[in-house]
Amino acid sequence: MSKLLNCLINKDFSCVPVWFMRQAGRYLPEFRKIRSKNPDFLKLCFNSDLASKITLQPIERYDLDAAIIFSDILVIPYALKQPIVFKDKTGPKNIDLNIKNFLDTSKKDFLSTLNPVYETIKKTKKKLRKDKALIAFIGAPWTLITYLYDLKKEKDQNNKITIKNKNEIKLVLNKLDEFLKIHIINQKNAGADAIQIFDSWAGLLKLEDLDEYCYKPNKSLIEFCKENEIPSICFPKGLKNNYKEFIKEVKPGAINIDYEIDPNWAKKNFGGLCIQGGMKPELLLKSEKEVLEETEKYLEIFKNYPYIFNLGHGILPNTNPDIVKKIVKKVKLIKR
Ligand code: CP3
Repeated sequence: MSKLLNCLINKDFSCVPVWFMRQAGRYLPEFRKIRSKNPDFLKLCFNSDLASKITLQPIERYDLDAAIIFSDILVIPYALKQPIVFKDKTGPKNIDLNIKNFLDTSKKDFLSTLNPVYETIKKTKKKLRKDKALIAFIGAPWTLITYLYDLKKEKDQNNKITIKNKNEIKLVLNKLDEFLKIHIINQKNAGADAIQIFDSWAGLLKLEDLDEYCYKPNKSLIEFCKENEIPSICFPKGLKNNYKEFIKEVKPGAINIDYEIDPNWAKKNFGGLCIQGGMKPELLLKSEKEVLEETEKYLEIFKNYPYIFNLGHGILPNTNPDIVKKIVKKVKLIKR
């Protein structure tokens, strides 16, 4: 069994597995080289030879314990027949949601669009050493909805969203629940060892909407993972103190904390649940001394606790790849 799964499932804290969100990405020159020849980002995600190669780039450079498959959360709306286009560097362009196409997409059409992702997983699994885990992922329904309806531009002074078209969104939630489960099981069957669920925009929800739009949808997906014996990691970014309520309601296999969460508070309040991440990605832009001190801080807090080293969000594109190597070395050196 890989070190990551041993920590996640068996709560073995004799070593700290390490990987990074966005470990395959623009901060790596070898990624930028491939990317410069492939201007269409989604096409690159669906090129299974190149996607597998990109997935393995950080594994070749560093002694990481997990690879995360090179894809995107927005392949799901794309496979549900929405016109997803990535603008250079700034990410997805506003989606002109076609609700009829979205709700009418068949399982057959959905799977035929996503088949290259499963091919990427199969190809990567063959090449990955057995002591390393292969992580696949999905975006949580609410986070996908924020892109489908371009909700971020509707934030109020408190950075919260007022949900207007609740009836239509209910239909969208149901469709996503059904089809995300199809994507989860197909990724598992292709060879993924664990699934991470990104609810990157959970923090935009008002307190009174958290249950309906965050806890319930995540819970349904986590229960599906449990029924199918798929280890899971949830990342409900921005929930602040409600991380505790999220864990109580959703009961994920492990939880990724974001950089706003006090790691000591998490350790005290998460009932022994395996914790991943936490360190602020911006910190990696500071001096080596500061980076390694912060790394040590997380390692010290989580000694004698099942902990997977990672960040509180993805690696920033302007990160120096050499600092990542130093962090990995530091994590690997600790003795427990
Ligand atoms: O290394 C990995 O983590 C695996 C691959 C991965 C990507 N996207 C590749 C990617 C994963 C896990 C994601 C998830 C994802 N995508 C999330 C959830 C995590 C988070 O960041 O909150 C979200 C919200 C997206 C949507 C998305 N994709 C945005 C907003 C952007 C543009 C801005 C940005 O952060 O880069 C992308 C593009 C994207 N996805 C890139 C990569 C490597 C950069 C594409 C490029 O080369 O221009």
